[in-house]
Amino acid sequence: MKKILVTGSTGQIGSELTPALRQRHGADMVVAAGHRTRPGESLLASGPYVAFDIRDKGALEKVIIQYDIGAIYHLSALLSAVAEERPQQAWDVNINGLVNVLEAARIHGCRVFHPSSIGAFGPSTPQDNTPQETIQRPKTIYGVTKVTGELLGDYYFLRYGVDCRGVRYPGLISHETLPGGGTTDYSVEMFYGALRQKKYTCYLAPDTRLDMMYMPDAIRAAIGVMEAEAAGLSHRNAFNVTAMSLTPAELHGAICKQIPDFTLDYKVDSVRQAIADSWPNSMDDSAARSQWGWRPEYTLETMTADMLARLAGKLGRG
Ligand code: NAD
Ligand code: SER
Repeated sequence: MKKILVTGSTGQIGSELTPALRQRHGADMVVAAGHRTRPGESLLASGPYVAFDIRDKGALEKVIIQYDIGAIYHLSALLSAVAEERPQQAWDVNINGLVNVLEAARIHGCRVFHPSSIGAFGPSTPQDNTPQETIQRPKTIYGVTKVTGELLGDYYFLRYGVDCRGVRYPGLISHETLPGGGTTDYSVEMFYGALRQKKYTCYLAPDTRLDMMYMPDAIRAAIGVMEAEAAGLSHRNAFNVTAMSLTPAELHGAICKQIPDFTLDYKVDSVRQAIADSWPNSMDDSAARSQWGWRPEYTLETMTADMLARLAGKLGRG
């Protein structure tokens, strides 16, 4: 049977998607690909691991041939805040890297999962209940790469029949690996602040509303869209998916129910605030729900309880 390759496997999503896929398909069936970040011991010990730069097409093809890869979960990327600091590198990694993956998929007959983001929308997009199909004029280089990625995925499917699929993830909250430099990272940092110092200084204003999702739901979304019947998918590369829509003040309130003396103050970072203000308040994910049965399991309350319990265990504060 053909194997699965996960690029960006040491990142926030990859470090949890890789073990989930290994559990589902068998440890040896899932090859984890990293870059410069040192992989965790469990990632290394639980199955094959390779390291290369996604911009190196030859290295990618070598791995695909060596391991007989049939599906690629492509997660290597620069996220929104880091991308805004290094726009040229963001284009190089997010787009030239993606083209390498799509070309390799075309030549070697692989399926591809490539996530888009709430960052694919911009200030002229309707911000509430953002439709599946709507105006996409992002003002960030991250958003430009995400819209381009959605279009490239569609093109490779229509032109070459490459089975490329994806979702538009909201901000992701998780305890395994810290986020890699996005605008929604505050949501994870707030949990660490609550448990370590009982205080946190947020770089977004209290009423900044954004879609969010707990990582177990994000993993189910990736696997769910990849395992869906192809015939039912009319938006294959960019399904809106969400689980909750919240502000820093609301997340603080939810954490305070369990840690009442947790204090939050604000020091707004104008760059990340401008990015967040240009993204939706809440997305309409009815196309994902009707076309492949998407349904999140975690609410703000159940996510907060699980995050606090698991992070407390990890930080030795249980
Ligand atoms: P991350 O920053 O945690 O991980 C990205 C990985 O890419 C890192 O492990 C890094 O080593 C790797 N990488 C960077 N440059 C590379 C290169 N030149 N060659 C090979 N690998 C390289 O990101 P993540 O949060 O896991 O995101 C994965 C994907 O999901 C990205 O496409 C991102 O845009 C998308 N996404 C993430 C979120 C979120 O909140 N985490 C939300 C929406 C969309
Ligand atoms: N969480 C991501 C970011 O903030 C959204 O794509 O960049």
